[in-house]
Amino acid sequence: MSKNPTPLDRVRDFEREQAMKLSADERPLFHLTPLVGWMNDPNGFCWYKGQYHLFYQYHPFSRQWGPMHWGHAVSQDLLHWTYMPCALAPDTAADAGGCFSGSAVEMPDGRLMLAYTGVQPAGTFRRETQAQCVAFGDGTDFEKSLLNPVIRHAHLPEGYSEFDFRDPKIWREDGVYRMVVANRHAEKQGAILLMESADGLNWRFVTELDASCSEYGRMWECPDFFELGGRQVLMVSPQEMHAREEFHAGYGTVALIGSYDGKEHRFVRESVQPVDHGLTFYAPQTTLAPDGRRIMIGWMDNWETCKEAPRRHPWYAQMSVPREVFMKDGRLMQLPVREIKGLWQDDVRYEKVTISEETRLPGVHGRLMDLSVTLHSEGSACRRFTLHVAKDDSHYVQIRCDLARGELVFDRSHGGSHRDIAHTRHVKAEVHDGELTLRLLMDKESVELFINGGERVVTSLIPTPLASEGITFAADAPLTVTVEAHHLK
Ligand code: FRU
Repeated sequence: MSKNPTPLDRVRDFEREQAMKLSADERPLFHLTPLVGWMNDPNGFCWYKGQYHLFYQYHPFSRQWGPMHWGHAVSQDLLHWTYMPCALAPDTAADAGGCFSGSAVEMPDGRLMLAYTGVQPAGTFRRETQAQCVAFGDGTDFEKSLLNPVIRHAHLPEGYSEFDFRDPKIWREDGVYRMVVANRHAEKQGAILLMESADGLNWRFVTELDASCSEYGRMWECPDFFELGGRQVLMVSPQEMHAREEFHAGYGTVALIGSYDGKEHRFVRESVQPVDHGLTFYAPQTTLAPDGRRIMIGWMDNWETCKEAPRRHPWYAQMSVPREVFMKDGRLMQLPVREIKGLWQDDVRYEKVTISEETRLPGVHGRLMDLSVTLHSEGSACRRFTLHVAKDDSHYVQIRCDLARGELVFDRSHGGSHRDIAHTRHVKAEVHDGELTLRLLMDKESVELFINGGERVVTSLIPTPLASEGITFAADAPLTVTVEAHHLK
C-alpha cells in the first residue's frame, strides 16, 4: 500500500518537475539562485562529509515570500552548486507557520543537526509566536525532533519576546552545543542571546551577549558569533536602522567587534562597522572551511529592494559571492573566495596606462568579469575618476571616486530601473600610499565591489539588459591606472 505523500514529498515532486523545465543559461554563472520560486536568507551553511552545504529560505511555489521551507544545494568550490531536494517543509505543529532561518552543525555521531525557527501560526486570541526547533539527518533527509520546539519563550528571563525570537546559529565547542539567537527585548530592542545544551534537545539560557538599545536598529536578525584574527565578531542584521555614521537607513548588516571571555561568556563590544555598503545585501551567515578560512555568504537582496524588483526568471533572488573574511587593523575585511580564480579565462592586463577622457580598453567589456582597477594617484591632478560598467547608448552603472574627499559613489540610477527607489550609495574610499584599488565582480545582473582589498564592500543587483556590456574609464585630469580583467567562464 502506498503512503500518502507528505507536504515535503509534494515539494520534492514539484522540484523534480520544474528542474526539467529550467535552463542553467538563464541563471547567474556562479551565484546561487533558488531551484524555483523565492529565496531569502542563507541557512545551515557548513562543510559536511566532503562538501559545502548551503540551505536557504525558500518558497518553491511562487516568486514572492510565502510559507518558508528550506531549499538546499551542495558544492565543492562554493561557485558551482548542485541542487538537493528541499530539506524542510512547514509540516508540524511546531513550525506550521514556517521553517525560518537557522544553521547546521555536525554531531559527534556524524549526523547533521539543523537548528531553525519554527513559527507557530496565530489562533483565536493568540498572535503568531516563534521558537527554536531541531532536525537530524544525513545531509539529504532530516527528521524533526518530536520535542520541538526545543527552545521556547519559557526558557528565557523576563522581558524577552515570544513573537520576535528567531534565527539560531549553532556550533559545538567544549563538548557542548552553543547557539546565538535573536530576540527583541521589551526595552533594549534587538538582543542576542547565548544558549547551551549537552544534547541539542535540552537547552538553557546562558546570557545576553549584546543589545541594540535602539542605537543600531529595532529587531536584530540572523546573528553569527565567531573568533576572527584574535578578535570576536558578533554579526547581526538590524531592521529599521536610522542612518548614522557609515550606516545607511533601513536594513543592513553590522559587525560588532570586541573581546570575548569564553569562561564567563562576556562579550565586550569595542568597535562597530557596516558589513556591506551596497543596495542589496542582508542576513549573511559564515562557516569555517576545512582549511580554516572563515567564509561568509549573504542574501544579495533586502526586504525593501525585493518588493519592487522585476521578476524576470522562474526563480527570484540570489546569494552573494561567498567571501573570505579576515581582520586587518581591527576591521573586518572581505574578498571573494580564492576559488574564483578557477573561473578566470582570457585575462587582459594594462599596466600603468594614463587615461583622461572617457576611454574603452580593448578586451575589457562584458558582464561576466573579475575586474581589478588600481588608481595610482600620486603626482596626478585628478580629483575625479569615473568607471562605467554595463554600458550602452542608454544605460550605465557608475562608480565615481572623489580622490580628494576619499569618497566613492556607487550609482545604478541609469542602470535600467524605472522605479523610484534607492539607487546610490556613498562610501569611504581613501587613497592609501598613493593607490586606491577597486575590484569588481560582475555576474550578469549583479556587481560586487571590493574597495582597497576588501576594506569596504558595495553589493548591488543591477537591472541592466545583458546586452549592455561596455566598460569605460575616465578621469578629470591625466591619471595612471592598472587594469586587470579576468573574464569568467
Ligand atoms: C531575515 C528574516 C529572518 C527570518 C527569515 C524569514 O531576512 O526576516 O529573521 O527567519 O527572514 O524568512
